[in-house]
Amino acid sequence: MSNVDLTAKIPNNVNLGENKRLQRALEAWQPKFIDWWKTMGPVGAQDYDVYLRTAISADNDGWAHFDYVKMPDYRWGIFLADAEADRRVNFGAHKGEPAWQEVPGEYRSALRRLIVTQGDTEPASVEQQRLLGQTCPSLYDMRNLFQVNVEEGRHLWAMVYLLDAYFGRDGREEAEAMLERHSGDPDKPRILGAFNEKTPDWLSFFMFTYFTDRDGKMQLASLAESGFDPLSRTCRFMLTEEAHHMFVGETGVGRVIQRACDVMKEHRTDDLRKYGVIDLPLLQKYLNFHFSVSCDLFGSELSTNAANYYTQGIKGRYQETKIDDDHLLAHDSYRVTELSGERFGEKDEPALLAVNERLRDDYIADCQKGIDRWNKIIAKAGIDFKLTLPHRAFHRAIGQFSDIRVTPAGKVVTEAEWDHHHGQWLPTPEDRAYVISLMGAVTDAAQMANWIAPPAHGIKGQPVDFEYVRFD
Ligand SMILES: [Fe+2]
Ligand SMILES: [Fe+2]
Repeated sequence: MSNVDLTAKIPNNVNLGENKRLQRALEAWQPKFIDWWKTMGPVGAQDYDVYLRTAISADNDGWAHFDYVKMPDYRWGIFLADAEADRRVNFGAHKGEPAWQEVPGEYRSALRRLIVTQGDTEPASVEQQRLLGQTCPSLYDMRNLFQVNVEEGRHLWAMVYLLDAYFGRDGREEAEAMLERHSGDPDKPRILGAFNEKTPDWLSFFMFTYFTDRDGKMQLASLAESGFDPLSRTCRFMLTEEAHHMFVGETGVGRVIQRACDVMKEHRTDDLRKYGVIDLPLLQKYLNFHFSVSCDLFGSELSTNAANYYTQGIKGRYQETKIDDDHLLAHDSYRVTELSGERFGEKDEPALLAVNERLRDDYIADCQKGIDRWNKIIAKAGIDFKLTLPHRAFHRAIGQFSDIRVTPAGKVVTEAEWDHHHGQWLPTPEDRAYVISLMGAVTDAAQMANWIAPPAHGIKGQPVDFEYVRFD
């Protein structure tokens, strides 16, 4: 990896020292970020020593260093994946031209909007999760939470770098605004709906990192295809960190399932609440909720904005270069689920307009893989229960399904039927209160909360009961 400067005030591999204007802008933003971290980041945890990984290069192997760090001292840096020699714009009207090293003037505002929308989600999730350290099921989990949090902070740095480096004064203003909007703030909310929801308990956190961070993965992967090369390189490196966040979600939910199965077998009952454990139907409701709000993040099924981004070469499809077509999409069609009368069917729509929907399809397929693995845990325990993804039209607030009511199985129902039954499909206030009642800080390294099984492995070869967080 070329030119990693770890000793600089802002660790980086972008030769920051050679661009004084940019260095000044970022060094002026840094204390504001730290202020934000201290006031909006993990509550009560600023003095803890946390066993964290820190990015120290953007190489595939050995890019991270593990050690105890107090979070405000975390070395948030700017790391881009290595440049690809002779990289081209791989899709849209500019296909075949050399990738852009500067922002094309005509796409400036579209690119800025994409970067701001992506960037805004990063600090939003830190804000959503700021209380969770106080109710961690183990030190292992607390450490994973903080790892995710500091990396979302670094992802904000990644986007702020792009704004400052390539968008001049407007970029600086956008960088400031990133720290002024706050999750759930009625006056200055975060940009996207799912990032204004609360993450009040650890089941929600695991579902969020499984479903909502996976939206992040899909968005970053599409932006990694961008003809704007600095954005592509930034997103490619973010994806390596993002993988851990989804691992936290998948294994977290998997451990909740394991615990439910263990207690069901031990006590020969489905009634797990009297044992202080999360039952599988309850878990399914949380899954329904998080999947549906995350589906909304992909936007409308048919979108001229998405078509424009594609034609402009600034946001591609998932794994664009592996798709076998002309990468122009002017004459192609794509199957989109639509409602006709009371039934869902598929209709061919112009592929360009359906770029969002295609990404949602890729997302749903990616989600399903983890569901299959979770179901294997249940099957292995000999329990007759299957988790399923709800229908894509279930509980949607954005797109063509936002004004109809649909069951998780995909049946259109009336408003009255919805009112009568939605408590079977989505967590009720009682369900949420029950899950919250299980949360209590477990801060002894040898202990694990009753509602979750221990992980199969510790972090970086350490044992599961390693002291991942030290309090003094
Ligand atoms: Fe992120
Ligand atoms: Fe993430």
